[in-house]
Amino acid sequence: MFQCFQADFSRYKDTSFINLNNGSSGLCPAVVIDQQKAELEAFERNTSWSLGSSWSRIWKIQEGLGDFLGASPRDLFLRPNVTLALNEIIMGLPLPPGSEILSTNFEYGAVVNILKYKASKEGHSLRIENIDFLYQDISIQDAVDLLIGLTSPKTRVLVISHIFTGNGIEIPLKQLAKKLQEKGILLVVDGAHAPGLIDLNFTQDLSEVDYYAGNLHKWFMGPKGTAFGWVNPKHQDKTMPLYASWTTEKDVPPAMQKYATHGEFPTRMLWSHSQSFSSYYGLESCFAFWKTHSKKTIFQEIQNRINYLENELQALGLKPTKKLQSPSKDQIKARLLCFKLSDFPKISLSDLFVKSKHVDLQVGLPRVPGNALLRLTPHIHNSQEELQQAIEILREQI
Ligand SMILES: Cc1ncc(COP(=O)(O)O)c(C=O)c1O
Repeated sequence: MFQCFQADFSRYKDTSFINLNNGSSGLCPAVVIDQQKAELEAFERNTSWSLGSSWSRIWKIQEGLGDFLGASPRDLFLRPNVTLALNEIIMGLPLPPGSEILSTNFEYGAVVNILKYKASKEGHSLRIENIDFLYQDISIQDAVDLLIGLTSPKTRVLVISHIFTGNGIEIPLKQLAKKLQEKGILLVVDGAHAPGLIDLNFTQDLSEVDYYAGNLHKWFMGPKGTAFGWVNPKHQDKTMPLYASWTTEKDVPPAMQKYATHGEFPTRMLWSHSQSFSSYYGLESCFAFWKTHSKKTIFQEIQNRINYLENELQALGLKPTKKLQSPSKDQIKARLLCFKLSDFPKISLSDLFVKSKHVDLQVGLPRVPGNALLRLTPHIHNSQEELQQAIEILREQI
């Protein structure tokens, strides 16, 4: 039933357990790991040359990423993870003193801490609103109206996830961005879970978002240590990096000049200091992997696995916190399969493993306020047999 991708992963995949926690950190195709290892060795052969030649190669990688994201590479900056990319955006955001930062009870804890840090450092207020109404059957239109209703005259920015870590609910960014813009409120998006799970396009659907950051090490299957930030061109003049380095001033050194010809914003945002480049270089094999198998196929094959789990568990009487397969396109739906942990009264957990007499199952246990949750995030490396076993293991926990 599912297209089999096992050969693409088998060299590095540990099959002594079933990994259904790709939402925390995905598995890279073996070619991506191979490339990173080879890059480490290649760098070491001539370290000075390797460092000097890295900048134009980083630009090419940014072009490849832009191609994948439907974005101009000039609007992107690379960082090792979404937390750092969001720090760059949020801490660098120029807000008048006494502004209100609005966010929600579904956000990732480390990101909430960035907001607390920003508010206390700069004298803003932070308001976290409960948006449990998104669990109900609700239309996109109503959801956007309710979210907009949470803003106040003091609100200057809304910080919200594209896909929430604890329930997988997807926010309709196109509609939300438009309404916020009418009110003069900025929209900053934590897109940790979106790249590689849904088809992002920054020149179409997302063109009215103000700031966005996404991880590449989850659903995109990129190397650990890869993520990006995107800034709407209209804000780039006032977006300054958190750290200064060689390319933050106009007199860019010769080694970085090829990169610098592509615009002031990406040049300013470039991490132009010594670092390990092998993770970023591994993105090249990842782009090639997506091209070989096609976005359409990979998105569909992830979806097939999620749908299979949702259907089989539903047949056992288990309902996700929010349905993924909704009857209407106009309804808010989830992208990640999450259940209340209490739905599995017999469960025995050790770290992230559901212990079973056959084989252990690794799941996500997202830490968000409210109910304890269990999250199942399959990916293309998961075989039909693994998912069948996972269902069997979960059936034993009910
Ligand atoms: C919604 C959300 N935001 C931010 C992060 C942080 O990701 P990272 O640790 O890669 O920066 C995560 C990680 O799971 C997440 O789910």
